[in-house]
Amino acid sequence: MEIFLDTSNITEIRKWLRHGVVDGVTTNPSIMLKDGHRDLEAGAREITALVHPLPVSVEVYTNDPDEMLRQAREFATWAGNIVVKITIIDENGAPCLNVVKTLEGEGIRVNVTACLSLGQAMLAAKAGATFVSLFLGRINDEGNDGPGVIHKTRQWLDMWGYKSKIIAGSIRSVMDIQQAAMAGAHIITIPPEFMSKMVDHKYSRVTVSQFVNDGQRAFAEIEKARVR
Ligand code: E4P
Repeated sequence: MEIFLDTSNITEIRKWLRHGVVDGVTTNPSIMLKDGHRDLEAGAREITALVHPLPVSVEVYTNDPDEMLRQAREFATWAGNIVVKITIIDENGAPCLNVVKTLEGEGIRVNVTACLSLGQAMLAAKAGATFVSLFLGRINDEGNDGPGVIHKTRQWLDMWGYKSKIIAGSIRSVMDIQQAAMAGAHIITIPPEFMSKMVDHKYSRVTVSQFVNDGQRAFAEIEKARVR
């Protein structure tokens, strides 16, 4: 299973890259805005250079299919590790599958985003998506079974041999991460705050403190014996 960072915060990306557990980055227009990127191209170029050759998802910001294609083709010229995020439908419910099909046909990798059901994921896979983003948190928000949708999608992809990989997104807790992992998500895209929460544990801190203190006591006793 792979871990992507769901952020455009350069400091956080650098930090987690150094720990060697990051396999890619995902952004969306809301994340870019929150993290202070106003110039999408400059922000995307900085992130892609930082994580190269790992994939970086950058999302189009239009409802018009022709404009989606134009933006996607432009994004793809910024760096070889750009993946273009296309929403499964536009805000009026019109499918964007033809855009996905066209871009994948041109060799531009697509992450079909804002998927909230098995049916949407199936259609994204059939359109040729490299990645299908299932929004676990938003599925759960509506009282539906996020891990169940991921599990069924994984079963369906494997049953029919589709190449698409599931990205579990919209992560709201460490429990979400664990449930998505066990449900069979190929990738989980994690906001950095939950990376910090996932690695931490108060009893680990107590345990480490005990080891450090005992190690230092033993070292001090050896030093004392040596100088006698
Ligand atoms: C990731 O690819 C998604 O854009 C992101 O996880 C969405 O998260 P949200 O539901 O918290 O906006």
